[in-house]
This record gives sequence, C-alpha cells and structure tokens, in this order.
Amino acid sequence: MGPRMKAASILALIGCLATVTEPKIYPRCKLAKKLLRAGMDNFQGFSLENWICMAYYESHYNTTAQNVLKDGSIDYGIFQINSYTWCRREELEEINFCHVACSDLLTDDLTDAIICAKKIAHETEGMNYWQGWKKHYEGRDLSKWKRGCEVP
Ligand SMILES: *[C@@H]1O[C@H](CO)[C@@H](O)[C@H](O)[C@H]1NC(C)=O
Repeated sequence: MGPRMKAASILALIGCLATVTEPKIYPRCKLAKKLLRAGMDNFQGFSLENWICMAYYESHYNTTAQNVLKDGSIDYGIFQINSYTWCRREELEEINFCHVACSDLLTDDLTDAIICAKKIAHETEGMNYWQGWKKHYEGRDLSKWKRGCEVP
C-alpha cells in the first residue's frame, strides 16, 4: 500500500469511528428492529408502532435529547424519561425507580433507556407516562410508523 492509500484508509477509519461515537438521530427502521428485539412489540399491550411513534413525538429519535422542565427536573433521551422519578442525576438524591444514572439514558445502544421505558410502562400500566404522545396518538392508526422496516 502506497503512502497516499495508507493516509486515505486511515482517514476512512477515523470517519467510521466518528460516526460510531457521535450522538445521533436513530434511523426509524433501525429503532423498529431494536425495539422488536428488545421485546417491545405488544409490551403491556402496545404494538411496536406505538413505541416508534412515541419516540418520535418525544425526541425526534435524538438519543441525546435533554429538556429541562419548569420544576427543574430533566427529561432524558429518546423516550424523554424524567429525572424526578426515574433516574439519578449526579449529586441529587432522587427517587430513581429505574436504578440508573440519567446520563446512561442518552447512550446510542439504548439498552438502559429501553429497560427503563419498560419499567415505566409496567409500573404505570401502559403508556400513560407519555401524556403528550397519548393525547395526540393513542388509538390512532399508527401503521405508517413501521412501514418499510421489515418488521412483522
Ligand atoms: C439532539 O439533542 C441535543 C441535546 O438536546 C442537541 O444538542 C442536538 O442538537 C440534538 N441533535 C439534533 C440533530 O437535533
């Protein structure tokens, strides 16, 4: 390999690493497959498209989304999980029902965010927690949210 080719392949490698570590907008169908594998289809009776649609409504699939609420608590990640009840911010003593650091709800692999969302859906008996989503989307025809995604 000549020096120019070498430089080019090193640059290509750096490019790949950068896309792996950058905070990202999760592609819809990738999210669909991830949620399916994680057992979210019909979890607490809510089909896969409900979860995909909710994530879009809450964060536009932005895994690093953070929003500060009026009471000073923060909603974290793709499902906008709130720090007051569900996760722990650094110094603050909070209820932390999901036994997770809020910052772990921002990772691209979504593992902790999915575990916590399942816990919320389990404890609040459905998707009641996501009030904004519920108001606008519950019971609607949501089939378009998984269209073209090669999921059942
Ligand atoms: C995702 O959310 C973060 C934190 O709120 C924000 O800084 C970033 O610009 C967002 N990314 C996109 C592509 O909207």
